[in-house]
Amino acid sequence: MSTYSTPLEILTSRLRQGIQEMGLPLDLGVVTSTANPRFGDYQTNAAMVAAKILQKNPRDLAREIIEHLQVDDCCEAPTIAGAGFINFSLSKAFLETQIRALSLDGRLGIAKTDHPKTIIIDFSSPNIAKPMHVGHIRSTILGESLARIARFLGHHVITDNHLGDWGTQFGKVIYGLKHLPAGKGLEEAPVQELVRLYREVTALEEQSPTLKAKVREELVKLQHGDQENLALWKKAVKLSWEEFEKHYELLQISFDERLGESFYHDALEPLVHRLLEQGIATKSEGAVVIFFPNHPAFHDKPFLIQKSDGAFLYGTTDIATLEYREARWHPDAVWYVCGSPQQLHFEQLFSVARILGLTSEFRHIAFGSILGEDRKMMKTRSGDNIELGSLLQEAIDRAYSIVQEKNPNFPEEEKQEIARIIGLGALKYADLMQHRMTDYLFSWEKMLSFQGNTAPYLQNAYVRIRSLLRKQETQDTHALGPMVLEEPTERSLALQLLQIGEIIPTLLEDARPNILCLALYELANKFHAFYEACPMLKAQESTKKSRLALAALTGRMLQTGLELLGIQVPERM
Ligand code: ARG
Repeated sequence: MSTYSTPLEILTSRLRQGIQEMGLPLDLGVVTSTANPRFGDYQTNAAMVAAKILQKNPRDLAREIIEHLQVDDCCEAPTIAGAGFINFSLSKAFLETQIRALSLDGRLGIAKTDHPKTIIIDFSSPNIAKPMHVGHIRSTILGESLARIARFLGHHVITDNHLGDWGTQFGKVIYGLKHLPAGKGLEEAPVQELVRLYREVTALEEQSPTLKAKVREELVKLQHGDQENLALWKKAVKLSWEEFEKHYELLQISFDERLGESFYHDALEPLVHRLLEQGIATKSEGAVVIFFPNHPAFHDKPFLIQKSDGAFLYGTTDIATLEYREARWHPDAVWYVCGSPQQLHFEQLFSVARILGLTSEFRHIAFGSILGEDRKMMKTRSGDNIELGSLLQEAIDRAYSIVQEKNPNFPEEEKQEIARIIGLGALKYADLMQHRMTDYLFSWEKMLSFQGNTAPYLQNAYVRIRSLLRKQETQDTHALGPMVLEEPTERSLALQLLQIGEIIPTLLEDARPNILCLALYELANKFHAFYEACPMLKAQESTKKSRLALAALTGRMLQTGLELLGIQVPERM
């Protein structure tokens, strides 16, 4: 257990004590950090909330609350602002004690949750033999970051890649593998080859209805366990997975489970049978559906679980998946990181979960699109969906040119490693720094810039700090001793460091790593301001040590924060 408490925790508990002393309800009002330093570092609206209940003047009540507040060990005298806000300015001595405690804390003041949950995060989930699109890329980056944050906060996280490895596309692919001339070949470029076959057969089908029947026949044969088709399906899935795996490895993303759709196949028939028996599902025009007669949004939109030709659907598999996960992990929460077009699907699925008596917290963590230069969903020049492998490679190649230009003399191997760290970091960060619902414009130039809210900017701040520490031969930063916060830039850097520990525990509430991005960006800005304003080498020995300690702490915080976003830092760049 960490013994460190954040300023926010301390002020909140002091406010509660004061309010309790006055005999007012405890949960009255909250303390927040202020957006504008004019209003101090923190403020509370407690007096305004109390005034409403007690029908009193809020400013008078604020004065009364302040009289009962025991904060002289951490703040200047609290002031009253506006309609009755109480503002707190942390005292120099308190900030110095806090920042020292933070630097001695192995977790940098970021507390683990008191209520650890079992959380299943379903993310990435590309479809085999269908083109991967930018939605899968966003899901992969966002899902990984959420998993890292949740684990860091002490939750038990199970990540599951719900691969689309079963479905009607395999009728087309198998037909294509049997009858169309091979291109690059499955072994050589499985994902590309399968998508090519999928596309070509789709186009051919449009011209010939008899072909449609033949394709359908291949699918039915596969579903009935035909040896040859099963073998082709297995091979396609295996080779595709191996290719995905290379991308995941490059991105340093791994999954605890990869229970694709096919894993649930045998459960579907009995599932539909049972849902019919229990009266949860009904037959409608030959198909099997679930109605939600009382639901305001989709009382007229049933959830289809079996088509009239007997085929099961995406949603059927998702119901089986719900039940499997419940039985195996008893999760407190299940999060689906998946684009917003699937909103209705998930709302209906979660309604089914409730009907089945599942009580976990179900969340669809939706996101917007990535737009190309034409402001439409990003595609390649030829109009194809973006291929993940080539996107990653381009990021690395572009970063390599930058590294090459800046540091032509670094050893080749190191240049490549730095290029990987910068390129993939830039790509991930460009995604995570956006509010997840925003459709954002994809721009290599912007994301790879060393200026502005980008990964290279943050990585560069880290690298600067590391180089500074190397020059000072400072390894053991703990031994640097206390930090003295004389200069305004020192104070504001320290405050930002303290506040990141307050921000991180809130990131999962609305699944928004972009808040962390912004906090890290501000941290880097504040570090640069401090670095400009506060000389280190020319300073007195104790001041120099204090400033080095502040720099070292900033470096650790940058590294930790970026790691939660799935982004690495180089030692030099
Ligand atoms: N494979 C799906 C798609 O590409 C996403 C799966 C999301 N997860 C789920 N359990 N439905 O659209």
